[in-house]
Amino acid sequence: MSKPQLLVAMSSVPDLAIDLLRERFEVEVFDFKQASKEEILNKVHGKFGIFCSPWHEIDEELIKNAGSSLKVIGTMSVGYDHVDLIAMKKYGVRLGHTSNISSEVIAETTIGLLIATARRFFEANHALITGEWKDSDIFWMCGRSIRNSIVGIVGCGNIGISIAKKLNSFNISQLLYTSRGEKPEAKNLGGKLVTIDELVEQSDFIIVSVALNEDTKYIINRKRIAKMKSHAVLVNIGRGELIDQDALIEALRENRIGGVGLDVMTPEPLPLDNPLIKMTNVVLLPHIGSSSIETRTEMAVVTAKNIIAVLDNSAMTKEVQL
Ligand code: DGY
Repeated sequence: MSKPQLLVAMSSVPDLAIDLLRERFEVEVFDFKQASKEEILNKVHGKFGIFCSPWHEIDEELIKNAGSSLKVIGTMSVGYDHVDLIAMKKYGVRLGHTSNISSEVIAETTIGLLIATARRFFEANHALITGEWKDSDIFWMCGRSIRNSIVGIVGCGNIGISIAKKLNSFNISQLLYTSRGEKPEAKNLGGKLVTIDELVEQSDFIIVSVALNEDTKYIINRKRIAKMKSHAVLVNIGRGELIDQDALIEALRENRIGGVGLDVMTPEPLPLDNPLIKMTNVVLLPHIGSSSIETRTEMAVVTAKNIIAVLDNSAMTKEVQL
């Protein structure tokens, strides 16, 4: 009997995950990034499942075009804002993701980005390699300490909690967080639940780690950027659209905030003529929050297992409830 067909939307998925899938599926690797929308729509037709990542939009047209054979989308990511959830529900397609597998490594990236931005690592490195480092003034290239500061985490899910745990060793003066309700884990770490407006007003460091959806889009809007302290450092490791980027650029230009560290931005990849690229008080990373070999390999294997679970009509490791 022939196996059901599975489409893998990128060519970099490790053999460990592909081999698992090949045991149960006819696997076709087809790089969506190299194809036109029309080619993708043709390709998905008749597939049982699609293995994708946040860089592959799974919209209604694609889901509809796949036809009634389509039973599962497995995204190799925590976030699933690239998937049309309403269409998934409408066509009865299950969605697997990799929630919590990457929390620790994303928290590591966040702390790195926070320090690099606050202490001006890239600006300092640039000064060194361009010969600007002469006989330094004792206050040259001073940044801000995280110690004794107020740190606010927007969104206290698994990633937010992992960040809070790491921050615990930095001797900060107060941890603030936003969430739908009080989080015992955050409270145990000394965290205080506040509103988003209180958080942006009071924090020296603001970390955005909330999932992107209709409620959180532009949660860091122009009004809230205007409320930030003039030395505030803002870090985003969620999704670019959580922040009104135009308002952010304006605030940076006018030195109304201290600095910005972004692992995510709009659009991605960021065009080289975007004003953020040339700003000295901005640290940009190309969406590498969970990019450790170990984590990405585990994410690929869990995605494969999520897809296989649908074939077996059993529970996924991580399923999005639609
Ligand atoms: C995620 O897991 O959502 C990251 O953004 C990258 O995959």
